[in-house]
Amino acid sequence: MSRLEAQPLSPFTRLNALLEGIAPGQAPINMHVGEPQHPIPDFVGPILAANLKDFGRYPPIVGPEPLRNAIASWLTTRFGLSSGIDPQSQVLPLVGTREGLFSAAFVAVPETRNGKRPAVLIPNPFYQCYAGAALSAGAEPVYVNATIDTGFLPDFESLPTDLLARTAAIYMCSPSNPEGAAADASYWRKLFALADAYNITIFADECYSEIYAQSPPCGALTIRQETSPSFARLLVFHSLSKRSSLAGLRSGFVAGDAGFISRFREFRNVIGPQLPLPIAAVSQQAWSDETHVEANRALYRQKFELARSRLSNRFALRVPDGGFFLWLDVGNGTDAAMRLWRDSGVKVLPGEYLARDTPSGNPGKCYIRVALINDFATTDEALHRLAKTL
Ligand SMILES: Cc1ncc(COP(=O)(O)O)c(C=O)c1O
Repeated sequence: MSRLEAQPLSPFTRLNALLEGIAPGQAPINMHVGEPQHPIPDFVGPILAANLKDFGRYPPIVGPEPLRNAIASWLTTRFGLSSGIDPQSQVLPLVGTREGLFSAAFVAVPETRNGKRPAVLIPNPFYQCYAGAALSAGAEPVYVNATIDTGFLPDFESLPTDLLARTAAIYMCSPSNPEGAAADASYWRKLFALADAYNITIFADECYSEIYAQSPPCGALTIRQETSPSFARLLVFHSLSKRSSLAGLRSGFVAGDAGFISRFREFRNVIGPQLPLPIAAVSQQAWSDETHVEANRALYRQKFELARSRLSNRFALRVPDGGFFLWLDVGNGTDAAMRLWRDSGVKVLPGEYLARDTPSGNPGKCYIRVALINDFATTDEALHRLAKTL
């Protein structure tokens, strides 16, 4: 099979095929895509307008210095970095995190690893870009189940040593999409010990870290500074898509290991997309302002309380440690998604489409992922229909 043929099919393409020809039973409500529908921050328009002429300039791959400074300052405060992080050598803007999560694999994956085909470890279920990246870079993606028994986090430590010896990179999503599980300090410590023992690069996808109901999820950088103030072998990915409800702005960044960032910067300087300068100006403000993020979080908090009251203890409901997804155990996810659409017009994603089959089964099979991205009234209506239909 060619690398292209091996690529995963988008879960949304699979969902379209599943629901094709089935008319929605009521006015449709979309809860299948993780696209926040909250209002965008007020400052976006005026800053864009003030910087319009810069659409006429090619942006530098490293982005404007004030943007990198704003990012470094946000990281230092949010994650309690005692020595800070260097905006010149340890921060790089991305045109949304997806493209960065993809292209970083090309830097991390060598031709061979200890004489064997390199492996890239991926939590299962997972954000599908990770598999696309591993396959495109010529690695073998190895899917590590995250189930209720493992606290919905992958147990990388339990893997055979010969597999770890050929592992080039690990994608770790925390808080995770779809389950909303956040790794704690002890989880990160063990993962970094593994990374150091086997020289593995960790890609920590933290794009949901700012959406939480209770306390801020632990960050990878916070824990890594204990053993490596230079964040060796660690790259964290953050995005404005969820934090600031700016999915269409296409703005994020990668930060961490300076050696990796340097190789990534040079690679990107030839093949990477640059962040347009007016978008960089908006992003600088978005990373510098917490007021809109707190307002955003408050809206999600209300909707999680609503879910708790609408669904009570059904479907093994958990309010996620972070992110805005409900990961509901409905017995059979594809069947439930079909019934929900047919009987009540609510569109959700079968968990199976976010996971791979493994010898111990498909860890997403019993679940549906429900994105609480709509306004309160729409969410209320959707949860009411869901509780009635399933
Ligand atoms: C886990 C995860 N990582 C990364 C992304 C990409 O986000 P963006 O490219 O908008 O920054 C998403 C988007 O849904 C996601 O769910």
